[in-house]
Amino acid sequence: MSHDVDPRLGGRSVREIVYTEEAIRARVQALGAEISAGYEPEDRLLVVGLLKGSFLFLSDLVRKLTIPIHVDFLVASSYGDGTVSSGEIRVLYEPPADLDGRSVLVVEDIVDSGATLQRLVPMLRERGASRVDVCTLLHKRLPSATVEVRWVGFDAPNSFLVGYGLDHAEDFRHLPYIASL
Ligand code: IMP
Ligand code: MG
Repeated sequence: MSHDVDPRLGGRSVREIVYTEEAIRARVQALGAEISAGYEPEDRLLVVGLLKGSFLFLSDLVRKLTIPIHVDFLVASSYGDGTVSSGEIRVLYEPPADLDGRSVLVVEDIVDSGATLQRLVPMLRERGASRVDVCTLLHKRLPSATVEVRWVGFDAPNSFLVGYGLDHAEDFRHLPYIASL
């Protein structure tokens, strides 16, 4: 099936498929093995998915982890009209669990400016987590994104990407592949 006639696109078109379903599956499997090797059961790892964009990546990734974990979510949104990234992040939901002495793994869909993680990672550290690491499926490697990211699925092109959780005005989140618009 050619992607420009994919009925999931609802008549819109994408430029090109950047990561196929198969490429994503292989990379997520490898990330799961690497992450599993990076923790001990005593770490009491809490995996925190940033909604909504990470929902498919998170669900595939946790099924590749071979260590005991808990799963929760964090919902944050940007202030403002959404056209200019102000760097102001509002937290709408965060894990209620006591983080004291626990390891936290933040799972993100894509690091763009880095503003989201630069706000959220220190916040989780202030709640007493002994260790906070970040795993992102995609990283655009922009100079502004100075946040330390331990696990990266793919170094992404600096174009607007959709699918596998990533949206454009809420469209395309359910695509099993990642495409550029
Ligand atoms: P940052 O705070 O600028 O790093 O932006 C991170 C968030 O912006 C991601 O979690 C996505 O929700 C969104 N985002 C950034 N780039 C893209 C993209 O190319 N496609 C879809 N969403 C994106
Ligand atoms: Mg996001």
